[in-house]
Amino acid sequence: MSRAAVLAGVGAWLPETVVTNDELARHLDTTDAWIRTRTGIRRRRVIGPGESTGSLAVEAGRRALKSAGTDEAGVVVVATSTPDRPCPATAPEVASRLGLTGVSAFDIAAVCTGFVYALGTAAALITSDTTDSVLVIGADAFSTILDPEDRTTRAVFGDGAGAVLLRSGEPGEPGALGGLHLGSDGTRSELIEVPAGGSRQRASGVPAAEAGPYFAMRGKAVFSEAVRKMADAVEATAHSLGWAPGDIDRFVLHQANARILAAVADRMGMPAERFVSNIEDVGNTVAASIPLALADGVADGALRAGQHTVLAGFGGGLTWGAVGLVWPDVTPV
Ligand code: UT7
Repeated sequence: MSRAAVLAGVGAWLPETVVTNDELARHLDTTDAWIRTRTGIRRRRVIGPGESTGSLAVEAGRRALKSAGTDEAGVVVVATSTPDRPCPATAPEVASRLGLTGVSAFDIAAVCTGFVYALGTAAALITSDTTDSVLVIGADAFSTILDPEDRTTRAVFGDGAGAVLLRSGEPGEPGALGGLHLGSDGTRSELIEVPAGGSRQRASGVPAAEAGPYFAMRGKAVFSEAVRKMADAVEATAHSLGWAPGDIDRFVLHQANARILAAVADRMGMPAERFVSNIEDVGNTVAASIPLALADGVADGALRAGQHTVLAGFGGGLTWGAVGLVWPDVTPV
């Protein structure tokens, strides 16, 4: 392989409206104490009128471009499971709003693993000489698909967007992505799903209200699988890169639940301090989760140039994946 995909900039964007645990407890049978101890979350952001997944993606994308010192990208990929509309994809409009009309732009739907899948796809476009740069955005607005009466999912999920710019560079240079591992298991797709709204329910004529228009998750079954699959994916990525697990300075995992991050650290025998986390303030932001954690990690100094870093995700599909890099000198925006 003559060239590599290199991370050159990172950016993020959150909607303004903050929903605290106490605010949720005013309308739902829950408490701040339950949410904090079971998830580590204190607050989350949600979109308001005039905002959408696309508008969050535009702002995060703009900041990633600025961080990389450019206003250009050859391809725009948006990882999302809450597109602005079922059709068309959200990415072309996001690209146009960033002044990039004409470039290839498409969505990737792999729920909470979407950003890692998008990174893998983007890296392949660069290493195959198809393009010299890709803006990879993870954006979701799960507040729009949650059951207002479901205290579990309302407590966990928040809206947001994060993005990175990948450029072509040399294998082995800081920021070069390597050791990509992706996987899926569709036999357990019902563990995380929105039953209604797709062709299966529409073709059979079942009214959406009956089929289930809201996001549903079997949290307990998903929990143990998330721990196992992210730990395995991290180890596979480290192995491909020739790193021992102990060589990994920073783990940037999908922020599903603070207890999941602690359990992965435990399973791998790694100190919890090496796990970058912002879940307390943003909750589980689905495809935005990993790039938001990257942007926050750069801003607060948790991620520094030279650190051996592994990103890993797990989510609906089921899907999972991981990728590694030596953290580059990235400008916070
Ligand atoms: O992002 C993609 C991947 N997703 C994940 O990895 C999510 C993994 N799962 C989780 O993070 C956790 O399973 C949840 C946070 C979703 C749930 O936490 P849990 O500790 O697994 O709770 P549970 O579902 O086993 O429920 C325990 C109890 C139940 O009551 P009973 O049946 O024991 O009486 C729930 O009804 O807690 C109750 N409960 C709540 N109580 C107060 C569930 N949600 C709440 C709530 N407030 N918000």
